[in-house]
Order: sequence, then C-alpha cells, then structure tokens
Amino acid sequence: MPEAPLLVSGEELRTGVAELGRKLSAGYDDGVVLVAVLKGSVVFLADLVRAMTITPLIDFLAVSAYGHGTGRVRLVKDLDTDIGGRHVVLVEDIVDTGLTLAYLTAELAQRDPASLAICTLLDKPARRILPAELAFVGFEVPDVFVIGYGLDFAGRYRNLQLLAAGDLDTLAADPDAYVAQLYGGSDPRLAS
Ligand code: IMP
Repeated sequence: MPEAPLLVSGEELRTGVAELGRKLSAGYDDGVVLVAVLKGSVVFLADLVRAMTITPLIDFLAVSAYGHGTGRVRLVKDLDTDIGGRHVVLVEDIVDTGLTLAYLTAELAQRDPASLAICTLLDKPARRILPAELAFVGFEVPDVFVIGYGLDFAGRYRNLQLLAAGDLDTLAADPDAYVAQLYGGSDPRLAS
C-alpha cells in the first residue's frame, strides 16, 4: 500500500493557524475583508477566522485554469463585496509558481482597496516563476505535491486535519491511492 509522508501534523496546523489568526487580529481592525480562493482555501479560512479576535468580513473568489500547465487563469466566481477603500487580505491555500496570485492581486488592486496583503497557509518557493510578496505565511513546504487540509487531488483528501506529500504518478494512476493510509487511522503519526 503506497504511503504519503506526513508534512505537517494536525497539532502543528492548529498552532500555526492560531498564530496567523493572532497576527491578523493585531494588524487589522474590524471590517477587514478576507478574500478566500475557492476551493482549496476553505478549510484554512474556516479555522483562521475562528482564531481571530476581530470581526472580519469574508468573501470568495474562484479561478479556473485556461489550459493544463499554461499557468493562465480566469475568474469564474467574483466577489459579492465592493472592496474599494477597504483593507483586504487575500487568503490562499498554497503559493506555488505564483501565477495565480499574480493574476488575483492585479485583479483586486484594480478595485482600489485601501490595502491588499496576502495570507497563505503554505509557501512552496522552489517552483516560483513570478515573485510574490507574502505578508502572512503558515508553513514553507518543499517541492512536493501537498494533500490535506483543503488541498486535493481530483477532489480527494480536502477534509484531512493534516498535510501529507503525495506522489503525483501514484495519484494519477489511482486518485484514492492514499485513502486507506490517511483515513484508516493505522499510522499513529497521522493522528490529530
Ligand atoms: P500557482 O499558480 O502555481 O502558485 O498555484 C496555485 C494553485 O495550484 C493553488 O492555489 C492550488 O490550488 C494548486 N496547487 C499548487 N501546488 C499544489 C499542491 O502541492 N497541492 C495541491 N494543490 C496545489
């Protein structure tokens, strides 16, 4: 049975997200708009807002890739909120090449927010193509494919309270390859 090595445990996630919540609460006032990118950021956002001691507004964007591997994206769901004149934090699951982030920050900046900062759960700097200014980072990860805590492969693994490193060839051959290990509870390191 293939095994996906543990990257970040449930306990480490709780501690890291709580710390980000504290930093955001210290840096912003009530009414800051947290813009989360569907779908990968949803689990992170849900824990992040509950770790905050101020009252943020939340809204969602969704992007879709134009073609596989082109790095080009387009907006497929827009915000409901007018962010003009507001302080905005873009909440991402992971910044990898930086292409999605560059597109989104350019798009949001056009709407004249009072400020725009990035909060990402994960930073994967090894594959960066475009520079990214990341104000709030939970964890830096190596050049591996990350699953769990909102991050998926073919829709699987989002609801795991941990992050693991999946092998892309193994997942391409069988998207459920790690289900038995990660949901079976047989590995004590993966207990949250
Ligand atoms: P970027 O445009 O290359 O920075 O990547 C943006 C998106 O690709 C992220 O928001 C994720 O949805 C996805 N992505 C990048 N790396 C991973 C990974 O390791 N696991 C799961 N999704 C990833």
